[in-house]
Amino acid sequence: MSFELNILVGTMTGIAQLVAQEIELRLDGEGIAVHTLEMDELDAGVFDRTGIFLICTSTYGQGDVPDNAKDLYEALCTQRPDLSHVRFGVFALGDRTYGETFCFGGKRFDEILGQLGAQRIGEVFMHDASAGILPEDEAAEWIEGWIALCNGAAGSDAAAKTHPDTAQG
Ligand SMILES: Cc1cc2nc3c(=O)[nH]c(=O)nc-3n(C[C@H](O)[C@H](O)[C@H](O)COP(=O)(O)O)c2cc1C
Repeated sequence: MSFELNILVGTMTGIAQLVAQEIELRLDGEGIAVHTLEMDELDAGVFDRTGIFLICTSTYGQGDVPDNAKDLYEALCTQRPDLSHVRFGVFALGDRTYGETFCFGGKRFDEILGQLGAQRIGEVFMHDASAGILPEDEAAEWIEGWIALCNGAAGSDAAAKTHPDTAQG
């Protein structure tokens, strides 16, 4: 099953960008068109794009989204577009030494997208910078399983379009 993947990057010092680059490399030749987009260039209309979305964002301040993600996050919270057509995953970067706000940047996006009707594929992946494993390395392993879930979701969407009776809800 081929589909398009839009990776939306929220980052302060570029580590989430490295994760997106690694994912692009891993998916090269897999028949998936990958578009990596920096969040500061985006508004809520980005979710009109075709394909599946991967939110790839770090956490700053006291559990905030990084600066380049703030406008997009605020736009979703205030404009509240209907995103029931959207399917997405989350690769969240954080540091467990921040305790109660661990990976809140990714969790905040997960929460607002869910409130707007978007459906998450798989669990939110949480990278812990204090664990000593590079996020790019974890992403390289994680992406394989997540893409398999996306293939299943894309397959069932296509089946539902062809056979409306199989659509749920
Ligand atoms: C000032 C500062 C505040 C941070 N606050 C949090 C936080 O509240 N929760 C968390 O899980 N990680 C926090 N982090 C860790 C970063 O999210 C983590 O290092 C991440 O890998 C940075 O990725 P980036 O370069 O893509 O922004 C913080 C890091 C810094 C430097």
